[in-house]
Amino acid sequence: MKRAARRVAIVTGAARGIGRACAERLGADGFAIVALDRAPIRWRVARGCVRRAYACDIQDAAQVRRTVRAVLADFGRIDVLVNNAGVYREAPVARTTRADIDHVLGVNVIGTITMTAACVGALKKSKGAIVNISSALSSRPYPTISLYVAAKGAIEAYTRALAVELAPAGVRANAVLPGLIKTDMFKTVGYDDAFIAAEIAKWSKLYPLGRVGEPRDIAAAVAYIASSKAAWMTGAMWPVEGGKLVA
Ligand code: NAI
Repeated sequence: MKRAARRVAIVTGAARGIGRACAERLGADGFAIVALDRAPIRWRVARGCVRRAYACDIQDAAQVRRTVRAVLADFGRIDVLVNNAGVYREAPVARTTRADIDHVLGVNVIGTITMTAACVGALKKSKGAIVNISSALSSRPYPTISLYVAAKGAIEAYTRALAVELAPAGVRANAVLPGLIKTDMFKTVGYDDAFIAAEIAKWSKLYPLGRVGEPRDIAAAVAYIASSKAAWMTGAMWPVEGGKLVA
């Protein structure tokens, strides 16, 4: 296999959860996988899959630039950018702290924009695709998540703007809006296993399809958008959430 012949997909936040499922799925679909995370990455990819992990905090513009330069030196091209890395916080509006604002907007919004800016030159050369991970909560929030919802709303607006600006260069930009997915994200706000299991049981009944999502449900949508089957799809906000938005 020629090194530059295989299409290359970058997935941020690929150490676990939705990002890891996206990396595994895109690897199985034949992409060379570039996995970025600030946490260590353990692999579970299809045999024969070309992949490399890079430690990178997407909030840090210098690290992002350095990492993307290294990716281009190692792989020679970038065809797909999955801006998945994100952080979740809960707090009533009046108790939203400056530290939380900086962190949530810093990773979700500034990180996504910084990654995109660093990769866009290579994506134009490959006529590639950007997939941003937003959330179904952006249009159906519950109390205490205003900051997270503001960040995801910004990502969706950014995705539309990317689609318009980059379409003439042949680059597509879309967002996937997951419903509740079984990952460790909710542990990051201090919930324990028993509470999370009870919440999943409760929410499963609220989804018309009778369950919450699995990371592979989102990876399947991302893989479709990343493929040439989605050649005429850009600027789309694609909910993948078991039907709750229409129930
Ligand atoms: P997770 O918390 O399990 O994984 C997030 C990954 O991103 C971790 O590996 C973490 O180390 C990495 N990460 C965080 N900040 C980073 C940074 N500054 N630089 C590099 N890597 C960083 O989260 P999960 O559930 O897999 O979520 C992935 C995306 O999906 C996020 O954008 C999240 O907002 C979104 N989402 C998740 C939902 C869910 O129910 N789990 C629902 C809707 C959207």
